[in-house]
Amino acid sequence: MYSILVVDDNVNLLKLLKMTLEKEGYLVTLADNGLKALEIAASTSFDLVILDMRLPGLNGMEVLEKLKQMDKDLVVIMITAFANIQTSVEAMKLGAFNYLIKPVNVDEMILNVTKGLENKELKAEIRDLKHKLTRVRSGLVVPAAESPLMKQVLKKVGLIAETDYSVIIQGKSGTGKEVIAKLIHSVSHRKYHPFVTVDCGAIPEQLFESEIFGHRKGAFTGANRNQKGKFEAANSGTLFLDEITNLSLNHQAKLLRAIQEKRVQRIGDERSFKLNIRLLVASNRDILEEVHNGNFREDLYHRLNEFLITLPLLKDRKEDISALVEVFLQEADLELGKKITGLSYDALQLLLHYHFPGNVRELRQIIRKAALVSEGRNIEASAINLPETEPQNLNHYLDNEDYLQKIISADLSLKQISGEISASVEKNIINQVLEKVNYNKTKAARILGIDRTTLYQKMK
Ligand SMILES: Nc1ncnc2c1ncn2[C@@H]1O[C@H](COP(=O)(O)OP(=O)(O)OP(=O)(O)O)[C@@H](O)[C@H]1O
Ligand SMILES: [Mg+2]
Repeated sequence: MYSILVVDDNVNLLKLLKMTLEKEGYLVTLADNGLKALEIAASTSFDLVILDMRLPGLNGMEVLEKLKQMDKDLVVIMITAFANIQTSVEAMKLGAFNYLIKPVNVDEMILNVTKGLENKELKAEIRDLKHKLTRVRSGLVVPAAESPLMKQVLKKVGLIAETDYSVIIQGKSGTGKEVIAKLIHSVSHRKYHPFVTVDCGAIPEQLFESEIFGHRKGAFTGANRNQKGKFEAANSGTLFLDEITNLSLNHQAKLLRAIQEKRVQRIGDERSFKLNIRLLVASNRDILEEVHNGNFREDLYHRLNEFLITLPLLKDRKEDISALVEVFLQEADLELGKKITGLSYDALQLLLHYHFPGNVRELRQIIRKAALVSEGRNIEASAINLPETEPQNLNHYLDNEDYLQKIISADLSLKQISGEISASVEKNIINQVLEKVNYNKTKAARILGIDRTTLYQKMK
Protein backbone atom coordinates (compact mmCIF):
# COMPACT_ATOMS: atom_id res chain seq x y z
CA MET A 1 0.00 0.00 0.00
CA TYR A 2 1.34 3.44 -0.88
CA SER A 3 1.80 5.94 1.92
CA ILE A 4 1.22 9.63 1.49
CA LEU A 5 2.10 12.58 3.72
CA VAL A 6 -0.10 15.69 3.35
CA VAL A 7 1.33 18.98 4.63
CA ASP A 8 -0.91 22.07 4.87
CA ASP A 9 -1.81 24.59 7.56
CA ASN A 10 -5.46 24.54 6.49
CA VAL A 11 -7.02 21.89 8.69
CA ASN A 12 -10.15 21.58 6.57
CA LEU A 13 -8.13 20.87 3.47
CA LEU A 14 -6.10 18.27 5.41
CA LYS A 15 -9.30 16.52 6.44
CA LEU A 16 -10.71 16.61 2.90
CA LEU A 17 -7.54 15.17 1.37
CA LYS A 18 -7.22 12.48 4.05
CA MET A 19 -10.77 11.32 3.43
CA THR A 20 -10.42 11.37 -0.36
CA LEU A 21 -7.07 9.62 -0.48
CA GLU A 22 -8.03 6.97 2.05
CA LYS A 23 -11.07 6.18 -0.06
CA GLU A 24 -8.64 5.53 -2.92
CA GLY A 25 -6.78 3.05 -0.73
CA TYR A 26 -3.77 5.12 0.33
CA LEU A 27 -2.28 5.29 3.80
CA VAL A 28 -2.42 8.94 4.81
CA THR A 29 -0.45 10.91 7.44
CA LEU A 30 -1.03 14.61 8.13
CA ALA A 31 1.21 17.48 9.21
CA ASP A 32 0.14 21.11 9.66
CA ASN A 33 3.56 22.72 9.37
CA GLY A 34 6.88 22.20 7.64
CA LEU A 35 8.98 21.31 10.68
CA LYS A 36 6.55 18.65 11.78
CA ALA A 37 6.53 17.26 8.23
CA LEU A 38 10.31 16.94 8.22
CA GLU A 39 10.29 15.27 11.62
CA ILE A 40 7.74 12.70 10.50
CA ALA A 41 9.54 12.13 7.18
CA ALA A 42 12.81 11.52 9.01
CA SER A 43 11.38 8.55 10.86
CA THR A 44 8.87 7.15 8.37
CA SER A 45 9.29 6.67 4.67
CA PHE A 46 6.62 7.89 2.27
CA ASP A 47 6.01 7.28 -1.41
CA LEU A 48 4.48 10.68 -2.01
CA VAL A 49 4.08 14.06 -0.29
CA ILE A 50 1.46 16.69 -1.00
CA LEU A 51 2.98 19.95 0.14
CA ASP A 52 1.53 23.42 0.57
CA MET A 53 3.76 26.25 -0.60
CA ARG A 54 2.88 28.80 2.10
CA LEU A 55 3.40 27.32 5.52
CA PRO A 56 4.09 28.89 8.90
CA GLY A 57 7.76 28.65 9.85
CA LEU A 58 9.64 26.79 7.14
CA ASN A 59 8.08 27.50 3.77
CA GLY A 60 7.10 24.81 1.28
CA MET A 61 10.12 25.34 -0.93
CA GLU A 62 12.55 24.77 1.94
CA VAL A 63 10.65 21.67 3.02
CA LEU A 64 10.70 20.38 -0.55
CA GLU A 65 14.46 20.79 -0.75
CA LYS A 66 15.03 18.95 2.54
CA LEU A 67 12.62 16.15 1.66
CA LYS A 68 14.39 15.58 -1.64
CA GLN A 69 17.72 15.46 0.14
CA MET A 70 16.38 12.69 2.36
CA ASP A 71 14.93 10.69 -0.53
CA LYS A 72 15.51 11.74 -4.11
CA ASP A 73 12.85 9.34 -5.39
CA LEU A 74 10.11 10.88 -3.28
CA VAL A 75 7.22 12.19 -5.39
CA VAL A 76 6.21 15.67 -4.23
CA ILE A 77 3.09 17.47 -5.44
CA MET A 78 3.07 21.15 -4.50
CA ILE A 79 -0.14 23.11 -3.89
CA THR A 80 -0.52 26.86 -3.62
CA ALA A 81 -3.15 29.54 -3.53
CA PHE A 82 -0.99 31.89 -5.57
CA ALA A 83 -0.23 30.99 -9.13
CA ASN A 84 3.26 32.22 -9.87
CA ILE A 85 5.31 30.99 -12.78
CA GLN A 86 8.60 31.85 -11.15
CA THR A 87 7.98 29.72 -8.04
CA SER A 88 6.48 26.87 -10.00
CA VAL A 89 9.60 26.69 -12.18
CA GLU A 90 11.74 26.75 -9.07
CA ALA A 91 9.73 23.97 -7.45
CA MET A 92 10.05 21.79 -10.53
CA LYS A 93 13.78 22.44 -10.57
CA LEU A 94 14.01 21.25 -7.00
CA GLY A 95 12.37 18.02 -8.12
CA ALA A 96 8.66 18.56 -7.49
CA PHE A 97 6.53 16.27 -9.64
CA ASN A 98 3.76 18.81 -10.22
CA TYR A 99 2.36 22.10 -9.04
CA LEU A 100 -1.42 22.49 -8.45
CA ILE A 101 -3.38 25.65 -7.81
CA LYS A 102 -5.88 26.03 -4.95
CA PRO A 103 -8.77 25.50 -4.52
CA VAL A 104 -7.81 21.87 -4.80
CA ASN A 105 -9.85 19.91 -7.30
CA VAL A 106 -10.12 16.45 -5.75
CA ASP A 107 -10.23 14.53 -9.05
CA GLU A 108 -7.25 16.41 -10.40
CA MET A 109 -5.35 15.65 -7.18
CA ILE A 110 -6.10 11.92 -7.41
CA LEU A 111 -5.04 11.86 -11.03
CA ASN A 112 -1.74 13.53 -10.14
CA VAL A 113 -1.12 11.17 -7.25
CA THR A 114 -1.70 8.15 -9.52
CA LYS A 115 0.57 9.55 -12.21
CA GLY A 116 3.27 10.49 -9.73
CA LEU A 117 3.34 7.01 -8.25
CA GLU A 118 3.39 5.38 -11.69
CA ASN A 119 6.29 7.61 -12.61
CA LYS A 120 8.15 6.54 -9.49
CA GLU A 121 7.60 2.83 -10.27
CA LEU A 122 8.78 3.35 -13.81
CA LYS A 123 11.94 5.10 -12.68
CA ALA A 124 12.69 2.26 -10.28
CA GLU A 125 12.11 -0.26 -13.07
CA ILE A 126 14.41 1.62 -15.41
CA ARG A 127 17.11 1.80 -12.78
CA ASP A 128 16.82 -1.92 -12.17
CA LEU A 129 16.96 -2.61 -15.89
CA LYS A 130 19.96 -0.36 -16.35
CA HIS A 131 21.72 -2.26 -13.62
CA LYS A 132 20.96 -5.55 -15.32
CA LEU A 133 22.01 -4.18 -18.70
CA THR A 134 25.41 -3.09 -17.46
CA ARG A 135 25.84 -6.72 -16.57
CA VAL A 136 24.75 -7.83 -20.04
CA ARG A 137 26.89 -5.18 -21.75
CA SER A 138 29.99 -6.09 -19.80
CA GLY A 139 29.66 -9.49 -21.44
CA LEU A 140 29.31 -11.28 -18.15
CA VAL A 141 26.21 -13.39 -18.41
CA VAL A 142 25.43 -15.35 -15.32
CA PRO A 143 23.82 -18.45 -16.72
CA ALA A 144 20.28 -19.23 -15.79
CA ALA A 145 20.35 -22.34 -13.65
CA GLU A 146 16.89 -23.47 -12.64
CA SER A 147 17.39 -26.90 -14.19
CA PRO A 148 19.16 -29.72 -12.35
CA LEU A 149 21.62 -30.14 -15.24
CA MET A 150 22.66 -26.50 -15.25
CA LYS A 151 22.85 -26.43 -11.46
CA GLN A 152 25.39 -29.23 -11.70
CA VAL A 153 27.37 -27.26 -14.27
CA LEU A 154 27.49 -24.21 -12.03
CA LYS A 155 28.51 -26.34 -9.09
CA LYS A 156 31.43 -27.62 -11.14
CA VAL A 157 32.34 -24.08 -12.16
CA GLY A 158 32.36 -23.16 -8.48
CA LEU A 159 34.65 -26.08 -7.71
CA ILE A 160 37.34 -25.25 -10.23
CA ALA A 161 37.04 -21.51 -10.74
CA GLU A 162 39.57 -20.62 -8.05
CA THR A 163 42.08 -23.25 -9.15
CA ASP A 164 44.45 -23.12 -12.10
CA TYR A 165 43.15 -26.41 -13.54
CA SER A 166 42.84 -26.63 -17.30
CA VAL A 167 39.23 -27.22 -18.23
CA ILE A 168 37.67 -28.82 -21.28
CA ILE A 169 34.24 -27.38 -21.96
CA GLN A 170 32.29 -29.63 -24.26
CA GLY A 171 28.83 -29.20 -25.73
CA LYS A 172 26.90 -28.91 -28.95
CA SER A 173 26.83 -25.64 -30.84
CA GLY A 174 25.07 -22.81 -29.04
CA THR A 175 24.94 -24.45 -25.61
CA GLY A 176 26.94 -21.61 -24.05
CA LYS A 177 30.54 -22.85 -23.92
CA GLU A 178 31.99 -19.40 -24.34
CA VAL A 179 29.62 -18.03 -21.71
CA ILE A 180 30.90 -20.64 -19.25
CA ALA A 181 34.54 -19.96 -20.14
CA LYS A 182 34.05 -16.24 -19.45
CA LEU A 183 32.25 -17.04 -16.25
CA ILE A 184 35.09 -19.23 -15.00
CA HIS A 185 37.56 -16.46 -15.71
CA SER A 186 35.43 -13.79 -14.10
CA VAL A 187 35.15 -15.64 -10.81
CA SER A 188 38.78 -16.78 -10.73
CA HIS A 189 41.66 -14.97 -9.06
CA ARG A 190 42.74 -13.98 -12.59
CA LYS A 191 39.64 -11.87 -13.17
CA TYR A 192 41.51 -8.55 -13.31
CA HIS A 193 43.89 -9.95 -15.91
CA PRO A 194 43.15 -10.55 -19.60
CA PHE A 195 40.78 -13.15 -21.00
CA VAL A 196 42.07 -13.92 -24.47
CA THR A 197 40.19 -16.04 -26.98
CA VAL A 198 41.76 -17.95 -29.84
CA ASP A 199 39.34 -19.38 -32.36
CA CYS A 200 41.38 -22.36 -33.48
CA GLY A 201 39.09 -22.94 -36.45
CA ALA A 202 39.36 -19.42 -37.81
CA ILE A 203 43.13 -18.92 -38.05
CA PRO A 204 44.69 -19.98 -41.37
CA GLU A 205 47.10 -22.90 -40.96
CA GLN A 206 50.23 -20.94 -41.90
CA LEU A 207 49.45 -18.02 -39.57
CA PHE A 208 48.70 -20.10 -36.50
CA GLU A 209 52.14 -20.10 -34.88
CA SER A 210 52.66 -16.43 -35.38
CA GLU A 211 49.23 -15.69 -33.91
CA ILE A 212 49.75 -17.91 -30.91
CA PHE A 213 53.43 -17.39 -30.13
CA GLY A 214 54.06 -14.02 -31.80
CA HIS A 215 57.05 -13.16 -33.97
CA ARG A 216 60.08 -10.97 -34.08
CA LYS A 217 60.50 -8.25 -36.69
CA GLY A 218 62.13 -9.78 -39.79
CA ALA A 219 61.44 -13.38 -38.72
CA PHE A 220 59.78 -14.05 -42.08
CA THR A 221 58.73 -12.10 -45.15
CA GLY A 222 56.01 -9.70 -44.14
CA ALA A 223 57.00 -9.65 -40.46
CA ASN A 224 57.80 -5.96 -40.43
CA ARG A 225 57.31 -5.40 -36.74
CA ASN A 226 57.51 -7.26 -33.46
CA GLN A 227 54.25 -9.01 -32.76
CA LYS A 228 52.96 -10.33 -29.45
CA GLY A 229 51.29 -13.73 -29.56
CA LYS A 230 48.06 -14.72 -27.84
CA PHE A 231 49.95 -16.59 -25.13
CA GLU A 232 51.84 -13.46 -24.23
CA ALA A 233 48.70 -11.33 -24.40
CA ALA A 234 46.97 -13.70 -21.98
CA ASN A 235 49.82 -13.81 -19.51
CA SER A 236 48.63 -13.60 -15.88
CA GLY A 237 45.12 -14.23 -17.20
CA THR A 238 43.16 -16.91 -19.02
CA LEU A 239 43.69 -18.25 -22.53
CA PHE A 240 40.54 -19.68 -24.10
CA LEU A 241 41.23 -22.00 -27.01
CA ASP A 242 37.90 -22.28 -28.75
CA GLU A 243 37.12 -25.13 -31.18
CA ILE A 244 40.34 -26.84 -30.20
CA THR A 245 39.51 -29.97 -32.21
CA ASN A 246 40.05 -27.90 -35.35
CA LEU A 247 43.80 -27.74 -34.69
CA SER A 248 46.03 -29.77 -36.97
CA LEU A 249 48.12 -32.51 -35.35
CA ASN A 250 51.24 -30.48 -36.05
CA HIS A 251 49.93 -27.48 -34.14
CA GLN A 252 48.65 -29.68 -31.36
CA ALA A 253 52.25 -30.81 -30.85
CA LYS A 254 53.52 -27.23 -30.66
CA LEU A 255 50.79 -26.28 -28.26
CA LEU A 256 51.56 -29.24 -26.03
CA ARG A 257 55.22 -28.32 -25.88
CA ALA A 258 54.48 -24.76 -24.79
CA ILE A 259 52.06 -25.99 -22.14
CA GLN A 260 54.49 -28.57 -20.78
CA GLU A 261 57.49 -26.29 -20.72
CA LYS A 262 55.42 -23.37 -19.50
CA ARG A 263 57.51 -21.17 -21.75
CA VAL A 264 57.01 -19.68 -25.19
CA GLN A 265 59.24 -18.19 -27.79
CA ARG A 266 58.26 -15.69 -30.45
CA ILE A 267 59.11 -16.93 -33.94
CA GLY A 268 62.60 -15.73 -34.80
CA ASP A 269 63.43 -14.85 -31.23
CA GLU A 270 65.98 -16.69 -29.12
CA ARG A 271 64.59 -15.51 -25.87
CA SER A 272 61.70 -17.32 -24.35
CA PHE A 273 59.52 -16.13 -21.54
CA LYS A 274 57.73 -17.80 -18.71
CA LEU A 275 54.06 -18.45 -19.01
CA ASN A 276 51.58 -17.91 -16.26
CA ILE A 277 48.22 -18.67 -17.82
CA ARG A 278 45.14 -20.69 -17.12
CA LEU A 279 43.90 -22.72 -20.07
CA LEU A 280 40.29 -23.24 -20.96
CA VAL A 281 39.41 -25.10 -24.15
CA ALA A 282 36.12 -25.76 -25.88
CA SER A 283 34.83 -28.05 -28.55
CA ASN A 284 31.46 -29.01 -29.91
CA ARG A 285 32.80 -32.49 -30.53
CA ASP A 286 33.60 -35.18 -28.03
CA ILE A 287 37.38 -34.76 -27.70
CA LEU A 288 37.94 -38.27 -26.41
CA GLU A 289 36.19 -39.58 -29.48
CA GLU A 290 38.49 -37.44 -31.61
CA VAL A 291 41.40 -39.10 -29.77
CA HIS A 292 40.01 -42.52 -30.67
CA ASN A 293 39.62 -41.43 -34.27
CA GLY A 294 43.24 -40.33 -34.39
CA ASN A 295 42.40 -36.65 -34.88
CA PHE A 296 43.50 -35.45 -31.48
CA ARG A 297 46.72 -36.17 -29.59
CA GLU A 298 46.11 -38.31 -26.56
CA ASP A 299 48.89 -36.65 -24.53
CA LEU A 300 47.45 -33.20 -25.20
CA TYR A 301 44.01 -34.47 -24.28
CA HIS A 302 45.27 -35.73 -20.92
CA ARG A 303 47.18 -32.54 -20.28
CA LEU A 304 44.07 -30.44 -20.94
CA ASN A 305 41.60 -32.72 -19.24
CA GLU A 306 42.27 -31.73 -15.65
CA PHE A 307 38.57 -31.09 -15.47
CA LEU A 308 35.69 -31.68 -17.88
CA ILE A 309 32.45 -29.76 -18.11
CA THR A 310 29.81 -30.97 -20.53
CA LEU A 311 27.03 -28.53 -21.31
CA PRO A 312 23.51 -29.91 -21.65
CA LEU A 313 21.29 -29.37 -24.68
CA LEU A 314 18.65 -26.71 -24.18
CA LYS A 315 15.91 -29.28 -24.76
CA ASP A 316 17.14 -31.07 -21.65
CA ARG A 317 17.09 -27.96 -19.47
CA LYS A 318 13.78 -26.35 -20.31
CA GLU A 319 13.41 -25.04 -16.76
CA ASP A 320 15.95 -22.39 -17.77
CA ILE A 321 13.97 -21.06 -20.73
CA SER A 322 12.06 -18.35 -18.84
CA ALA A 323 15.17 -16.88 -17.26
CA LEU A 324 17.05 -16.97 -20.56
CA VAL A 325 14.15 -15.21 -22.27
CA GLU A 326 14.36 -12.51 -19.62
CA VAL A 327 18.02 -11.91 -20.45
CA PHE A 328 17.26 -11.70 -24.17
CA LEU A 329 14.37 -9.29 -23.56
CA GLN A 330 16.76 -7.02 -21.67
CA GLU A 331 19.00 -7.11 -24.70
CA ALA A 332 16.02 -6.28 -26.94
CA ASP A 333 15.22 -3.32 -24.73
CA LEU A 334 18.78 -2.06 -25.03
CA GLU A 335 18.94 -2.62 -28.76
CA LEU A 336 15.40 -1.83 -29.90
CA GLY A 337 13.97 0.13 -26.99
CA LYS A 338 11.19 -2.43 -26.63
CA LYS A 339 9.72 -2.65 -23.17
CA ILE A 340 8.62 -6.24 -23.29
CA THR A 341 8.38 -7.83 -19.90
CA GLY A 342 7.66 -11.47 -20.70
CA LEU A 343 5.97 -14.21 -22.66
CA SER A 344 2.29 -15.03 -22.91
CA TYR A 345 1.29 -18.43 -21.61
CA ASP A 346 0.85 -19.79 -25.15
CA ALA A 347 4.20 -18.45 -26.28
CA LEU A 348 5.94 -20.12 -23.36
CA GLN A 349 4.16 -23.41 -24.11
CA LEU A 350 5.38 -23.24 -27.71
CA LEU A 351 8.97 -22.83 -26.55
CA LEU A 352 8.64 -25.57 -23.95
CA HIS A 353 7.62 -28.02 -26.66
CA TYR A 354 10.27 -27.12 -29.17
CA HIS A 355 13.47 -29.17 -29.41
CA PHE A 356 15.98 -26.35 -30.12
CA PRO A 357 18.56 -27.96 -32.37
CA GLY A 358 20.51 -24.68 -32.15
CA ASN A 359 20.27 -24.56 -28.36
CA VAL A 360 20.53 -21.24 -26.46
CA ARG A 361 21.76 -19.38 -29.53
CA GLU A 362 18.60 -20.41 -31.38
CA LEU A 363 16.39 -19.36 -28.48
CA ARG A 364 18.15 -15.99 -28.49
CA GLN A 365 17.48 -15.53 -32.19
CA ILE A 366 13.83 -16.55 -31.83
CA ILE A 367 13.34 -14.01 -29.04
CA ARG A 368 15.18 -11.25 -30.90
CA LYS A 369 12.91 -11.72 -33.92
CA ALA A 370 9.80 -11.95 -31.76
CA ALA A 371 10.75 -8.78 -29.87
CA LEU A 372 11.14 -6.92 -33.16
CA VAL A 373 7.58 -7.65 -34.30
CA SER A 374 5.90 -7.50 -30.88
CA GLU A 375 3.97 -4.46 -29.74
CA GLY A 376 2.47 -5.20 -26.33
CA ARG A 377 4.14 -5.89 -23.02
CA ASN A 378 4.18 -9.61 -23.71
CA ILE A 379 5.45 -11.72 -26.56
CA GLU A 380 2.48 -13.58 -28.00
CA ALA A 381 2.63 -17.04 -29.55
CA SER A 382 1.99 -15.53 -32.99
CA ALA A 383 5.31 -13.67 -32.80
CA ILE A 384 7.26 -16.85 -32.20
CA ASN A 385 8.50 -18.30 -35.40
CA LEU A 386 9.79 -21.84 -35.13
CA PRO A 387 11.35 -23.56 -38.15
CA GLU A 388 9.19 -26.65 -37.75
CA THR A 389 6.69 -26.76 -34.97
CA GLU A 390 5.86 -30.38 -35.26
CA PRO A 391 8.07 -33.13 -36.60
CA GLN A 392 6.44 -34.80 -39.58
CA ASN A 393 7.75 -38.30 -39.34
CA LEU A 394 9.44 -40.64 -36.95
CA ASN A 395 12.95 -39.90 -38.15
CA HIS A 396 12.61 -36.36 -36.94
CA TYR A 397 12.01 -37.52 -33.42
CA LEU A 398 15.38 -39.10 -33.28
CA ASP A 399 18.80 -37.71 -33.28
CA ASN A 400 20.08 -40.58 -35.41
CA GLU A 401 23.66 -39.49 -35.14
CA ASP A 402 23.51 -39.62 -31.36
CA TYR A 403 22.14 -43.13 -31.35
CA LEU A 404 24.60 -44.32 -33.94
CA GLN A 405 27.45 -42.95 -31.85
CA LYS A 406 26.09 -44.67 -28.77
CA ILE A 407 25.95 -48.02 -30.56
CA ILE A 408 29.43 -47.64 -31.98
CA SER A 409 30.98 -46.61 -28.70
CA ALA A 410 29.11 -49.59 -27.20
CA ASP A 411 27.50 -47.52 -24.52
CA LEU A 412 24.17 -49.12 -25.22
CA SER A 413 22.88 -52.33 -26.74
CA LEU A 414 20.41 -52.30 -29.61
CA LYS A 415 17.69 -53.34 -27.20
CA GLN A 416 18.45 -50.46 -24.87
CA ILE A 417 18.46 -48.07 -27.81
CA SER A 418 15.04 -49.31 -28.95
CA GLY A 419 13.77 -48.74 -25.44
CA GLU A 420 15.13 -45.21 -25.43
CA ILE A 421 13.66 -44.45 -28.84
CA SER A 422 10.26 -45.76 -27.93
CA ALA A 423 10.32 -43.77 -24.68
CA SER A 424 11.23 -40.63 -26.54
CA VAL A 425 8.49 -41.13 -29.13
CA GLU A 426 6.01 -41.81 -26.33
CA LYS A 427 7.03 -38.68 -24.50
CA ASN A 428 6.63 -36.63 -27.63
CA ILE A 429 3.14 -37.97 -28.33
CA ILE A 430 2.11 -37.52 -24.72
CA ASN A 431 3.27 -33.92 -24.77
CA GLN A 432 1.35 -33.21 -27.95
CA VAL A 433 -1.83 -34.75 -26.58
CA LEU A 434 -1.43 -32.87 -23.32
CA GLU A 435 -1.09 -29.65 -25.22
CA LYS A 436 -4.22 -30.37 -27.29
CA VAL A 437 -6.35 -30.92 -24.17
CA ASN A 438 -4.90 -27.94 -22.32
CA TYR A 439 -3.04 -30.14 -19.87
CA ASN A 440 -6.21 -31.81 -18.63
CA LYS A 441 -4.57 -35.04 -17.51
CA THR A 442 -7.76 -37.06 -17.12
CA LYS A 443 -8.72 -36.28 -20.71
CA ALA A 444 -5.19 -36.97 -21.96
CA ALA A 445 -5.06 -40.34 -20.17
CA ARG A 446 -8.41 -41.31 -21.73
CA ILE A 447 -7.26 -40.39 -25.23
CA LEU A 448 -4.00 -42.27 -24.76
CA GLY A 449 -5.76 -45.32 -23.32
CA ILE A 450 -3.72 -45.39 -20.12
CA ASP A 451 -4.58 -44.57 -16.52
CA ARG A 452 -3.59 -41.33 -14.83
CA THR A 453 -0.89 -42.93 -12.68
CA THR A 454 0.83 -44.34 -15.75
CA LEU A 455 0.50 -40.94 -17.43
CA TYR A 456 2.15 -39.22 -14.47
CA GLN A 457 4.99 -41.74 -14.53
CA LYS A 458 5.52 -41.25 -18.23
CA MET A 459 5.44 -37.47 -17.90
CA LYS A 460 8.44 -37.47 -15.53
N1 LIG B 1 23.29 -18.89 -19.91
C1 LIG B 1 23.19 -18.00 -20.86
N2 LIG B 1 22.64 -16.81 -20.61
C2 LIG B 1 22.51 -15.91 -21.59
N3 LIG B 1 22.91 -16.09 -22.85
C3 LIG B 1 23.47 -17.25 -23.14
C4 LIG B 1 23.63 -18.27 -22.17
N4 LIG B 1 24.20 -19.33 -22.78
C5 LIG B 1 24.38 -18.99 -24.05
N5 LIG B 1 23.94 -17.75 -24.29
C6 LIG B 1 23.95 -17.03 -25.55
O1 LIG B 1 23.79 -17.98 -26.60
C7 LIG B 1 24.69 -17.72 -27.65
C8 LIG B 1 25.62 -18.90 -27.83
O2 LIG B 1 26.46 -19.03 -26.69
P1 LIG B 1 28.01 -19.41 -26.85
O3 LIG B 1 28.63 -18.61 -27.91
O4 LIG B 1 28.62 -19.38 -25.49
O5 LIG B 1 27.80 -20.92 -27.33
P2 LIG B 1 28.88 -21.97 -27.80
O6 LIG B 1 28.57 -23.22 -27.05
O7 LIG B 1 30.23 -21.38 -27.65
O8 LIG B 1 28.48 -22.16 -29.33
P3 LIG B 1 29.42 -22.59 -30.59
O9 LIG B 1 29.80 -24.02 -30.36
O10 LIG B 1 28.52 -22.46 -31.76
O11 LIG B 1 30.58 -21.66 -30.58
C9 LIG B 1 25.40 -16.44 -27.29
O12 LIG B 1 24.71 -15.36 -27.88
C10 LIG B 1 25.29 -16.36 -25.79
O13 LIG B 1 25.32 -15.06 -25.32
MG1 LIG C 1 31.66 -20.91 -29.09
